[in-house]
Amino acid sequence: MTVRAAADATLPAIEARNLGVRYNLRLTRKTTVRQTFSQALRRREGPTHFWALHDVDFQVDHGESLAVIGPNGAGKSTLLQVLAGIIEPSEGRVTMRGKVSSLLTLGAGFDPDLTGIDNILLAGAFMGIEDREMRRRLPDIVEFADIGPFIDAALKTYSSGMRARLGFSIATAVDPDVLLVDEVLATGDQSFREKSRQRIEELIAAAKGIVLVTHDMHWVTIFCNRAMLLEQGRVVADGDPAEVVALHQEHMEASRLAKEEEAAKHRLTGVL
Ligand SMILES: Nc1ncnc2c1ncn2[C@@H]1O[C@H](COP(=O)(O)OP(=O)(O)OP(=O)(O)O)[C@@H](O)[C@H]1O
Ligand SMILES: [Mg+2]
Repeated sequence: MTVRAAADATLPAIEARNLGVRYNLRLTRKTTVRQTFSQALRRREGPTHFWALHDVDFQVDHGESLAVIGPNGAGKSTLLQVLAGIIEPSEGRVTMRGKVSSLLTLGAGFDPDLTGIDNILLAGAFMGIEDREMRRRLPDIVEFADIGPFIDAALKTYSSGMRARLGFSIATAVDPDVLLVDEVLATGDQSFREKSRQRIEELIAAAKGIVLVTHDMHWVTIFCNRAMLLEQGRVVADGDPAEVVALHQEHMEASRLAKEEEAAKHRLTGVL
């Protein structure tokens, strides 16, 4: 259950208690002809469900910026989707305090046939911001995105970096109390990344809560005052960014070596 309450700087911006997300592997995808066929070929056994998050317990105070790091498939995006209210947790409880703005996947929530301007207004409507208010913010959002005349072209004509610029500009222009960002900063070019960095610093200075998912360890240490390492859906470490990043890199190196060893063993048995 995701509870939304009014912002109160004395209470944590985010409280996640014993969160668990269980995906049902049999029901999550629509069945296509090809899948039906491959399912018929596959053995019937195998897991029917899968815990993408388990026992995840943390809070984010106002003014904290938390980086969530971990290997592919660790559950980072799942966690952000729970915080954004897109996925209902199967276990536990989330309380988000204040206005939550999220930038989860590239262009999610955008309509490819609408222009940049219309997508800005649409995003505002999605976030429950009044049309008049959104039109007041429009010039700033357009200026920050800085994609020139493309702002009047259909979104489907944008490069992925341009989509990210527009998305970031919208998500951060609406005075969020809590900002959720999943990976999107990585696609921006050097000058946009610099601008984004400044804007995130402003949001942190305004005592907002931020949760940033990224594979860019440099960003973790410059942007965030705390980092949480997720592995196989569980919190493995939570604390000082430099220490948590170091632990993550150690674990990644250990798993790379283990895989190399495994591959070498297979090569050896193949030769013999
Ligand atoms: N709709 C779904 N149905 C079933 N399993 C899913 C679904 N979405 C994600 N998963 C699984 O849940 C796990 C966590 O996925 P998630 O996208 O949260 O990982 P991530 O940490 O964001 O990884 P990445 O670094 O690759 O973005 C993965 O094993 C993934 O295969
Ligand atoms: Mg992800």
